[in-house]
Amino acid sequence: MRAQASEEQNVISYDRMKEQIEKQLLSFFEKGGAEGVAPPQISFEKGVTRIAFGTQPISPAMMIDFLLAVKKHLANIRVHAFDSGYYAFQAMNKNLFKTENMLDNFKVEFFVLSSSSRVEISKKGNLSQEEVNLVIELFLSANSSARQDPAYRLRLLGASIVEPDKNMDWDYIAGYDEVKRKIRESVILPLTNPGAYDSVARMTRKVFESNRPRAILFDGAPGVGKTTAARIIASESNIPLVYVPVESIMSKWYGQSSQNLSQIFDACEDMGGAIIFLDEIDSLAGSRDQNMFEATRQILSVLLRRLDGIDAASSTITIGATNRKDDLDHALISRFDQTIFFPLPNTAERAAIFGNYARHLSEAERSHLGERSEGLSGRTIKDICELTERRWVRKALIKKQEPTAPPFEFYRQSLRIWKESK
Ligand SMILES: Nc1ncnc2c1ncn2[C@@H]1O[C@H](COP(=O)(O)OP(=O)(O)OP(=O)(O)O)[C@@H](O)[C@H]1O
Ligand SMILES: [Mg+2]
Repeated sequence: MRAQASEEQNVISYDRMKEQIEKQLLSFFEKGGAEGVAPPQISFEKGVTRIAFGTQPISPAMMIDFLLAVKKHLANIRVHAFDSGYYAFQAMNKNLFKTENMLDNFKVEFFVLSSSSRVEISKKGNLSQEEVNLVIELFLSANSSARQDPAYRLRLLGASIVEPDKNMDWDYIAGYDEVKRKIRESVILPLTNPGAYDSVARMTRKVFESNRPRAILFDGAPGVGKTTAARIIASESNIPLVYVPVESIMSKWYGQSSQNLSQIFDACEDMGGAIIFLDEIDSLAGSRDQNMFEATRQILSVLLRRLDGIDAASSTITIGATNRKDDLDHALISRFDQTIFFPLPNTAERAAIFGNYARHLSEAERSHLGERSEGLSGRTIKDICELTERRWVRKALIKKQEPTAPPFEFYRQSLRIWKESK
């Protein structure tokens, strides 16, 4: 009984608590970093203090931050995580073995939804100073402007933003005129002239609906320039590219909610549009009859929904890249408006790619290399050129010679070495 009394000693009155919270949060709201953020709702009913507030979608990293904050202010807590989307931190009694009335203690509950999340704090009676401090810290942590910054949220989710790079243009990809033309027509034009497409749709549609492509699939062998093309699209259209490496985020999210993918789409919308590049989308592959992991299945279903639901007015476009289109789920393939196939380069294109990475060679020499590199991708050709340069520089250094550009013969040798190693 005495322990109980001493625990209650440093509680502060309801009015003082409310005043403290409001005062502390005043500067947060005054700074203007709080657009769209509502102040916490504070109430006292049936002997219970309650404080509730909304937050940005709660990422796993945020959850850890909350846990650390709670741990800093409360000595002993118990974590409840019954269902996905519900977490609670419950303060324990001073005497850890005494569970009596524990549910009356200070408790923080998190309701994690895809579009928004909510935090609810409750305690029978009044809060201690320590607990008031914790409430303030949780509120600020849940609503700090960094948290609201879509770029920050994307990073937490394992995606990264590639800002448009003015130096990136179609010259990076040698050959592939047909692929470039298709991309210009079906991706870049709609991204840069949405109004023209929409005005036609307004004239033709009984119920307005965008006719712009929402999702495009890049299909092609490894190393044929799919990722590079996506980066060029970002720079040509001046829209940031949100790079989502599907395989690595799936392992990062292992066992966690597939809502993370939804949050990526939300963050892109909040940025005012983006090119969402889902790289290695085959990680979601496996037709329905195969033994698809539950997690994969869930992520796939979120993806299907999001591809359907992308707001027609938004300037977000999704590009998926795959090496194995045939293995992809049919429902997924059907969501893409168009597939752009990147073939392996033909003879002339291979010569042109050598031209990008060995521009000092004569046309005849490049053609020669192009003819002898059948079946190789642009990446392999680039690798062979790099290998050649390294061999050549090494040789020059050993012989203490000034480095020059490698001679044709060295490229021929590298190509041979490369083929023999396979
Ligand atoms: N036609 C080309 N001209 C010049 N460079 C090329 C060409 N094709 C590929 N490359 C180069 O090869 C490298 C790999 O290309 P990229 O990463 O775009 O391939 P990818 O199709 O995305 O491959 P993966 O399926 O393995 O992801 C890049 O450095 C790119 O510049
Ligand atoms: Mg790639």
